[in-house]
Amino acid sequence: MSGVAAGRVAAIIPAAGLGVRFGAEQPKAFFELAGLSLLTRSALVLAAQVEVIIVAVPAEFVAIAAQELDSVDAEVHVVVGGATRQDSVAAAMLVVPQDVEFVLVHDAARPLVPANVISDVIKELAGGSQAVIPVLPVVDTIKRVDNNGDVVETVDRNSLRRVQTPQGFTKALLTEAFADPTHVATDEAGLVESLGVTIRTVAGSERAFKITTPDDVALALSLLGEA
Ligand code: CTP
Ligand code: MG
Repeated sequence: MSGVAAGRVAAIIPAAGLGVRFGAEQPKAFFELAGLSLLTRSALVLAAQVEVIIVAVPAEFVAIAAQELDSVDAEVHVVVGGATRQDSVAAAMLVVPQDVEFVLVHDAARPLVPANVISDVIKELAGGSQAVIPVLPVVDTIKRVDNNGDVVETVDRNSLRRVQTPQGFTKALLTEAFADPTHVATDEAGLVESLGVTIRTVAGSERAFKITTPDDVALALSLLGEA
C-alpha cells in the first residue's frame, strides 16, 4: 500500500519480450535469477507499494505467470502482450481498474529496482505531477557520428539523462497518451512528450539497470549478494 494517493496505484509490468539479446530459450522475464524469475522479482518489489499489478506476457505464458504471481500481495491481472513493448503496455492499459489514480510502468527486466526509486516516483505523483521518470546522469563523453562511424561532434552531456523505470503517470494522462495507436515511442514518457505536460525526473539507481544480455546476469547476482 502506498498510503499517499487518494485512488489506488497500479503497476503495469511488460514481460512479453522474447529476450533476443539475452538468448535464453524461454522469454527473458521468465529467466530465474537465484530461484525467482525476473517477472516475479519485479512484481514482488512493486507489490510492496502498489495495490494492483498487471503483467503482459506471451500467450503461452499466461497460466505460468498467473501461477508464479499467485503469492504476490496485490490484485494481479495477467494479459497477453503484443509484438512490441508499447503494444504490451497498451494491452495492459485495457484492464486497469476504474478506481486506479496512478499507473506505473516497470520493465520486468529491471528486477533489482530499489524501493526508494518506486516510492520517489509515487510521492512525486501524489504531490501533483502528472508524469515522472527515474533518470541517471550520463558519465561517458558522448559523440555524434555520421553513417561511416566518423565523429561529427561532441554532445554536451550535462543536459542528457539515461532513463529507467518505473515511469509513473496519472491514469488519465497515460490513457490519453495511448489513444493514438499510430504514435510510436520507446517508452511511455516518449508518448506523453507531445501532450504538452511537464515530465518530472527523480533520481534513478544503477541497481535498476535492465538485464539485457547474458553478461548482465553476473552483475545482477553480485548485486543480490551484497543486498
Ligand atoms: N516487452 C514486452 N513486449 C514486447 C517486447 C518487450 O512486454 N513485445 C518487455 C520485455 O519483456 C521487458 C521490457 O519490455 O521486460 C523491456 O524490453 P527488453 O529489455 O528489450 O526485453 P526484450 O524485448 O524481451 O529483449 P530483446 O529486445 O533483446 O528481444
Ligand atoms: Mg526489446
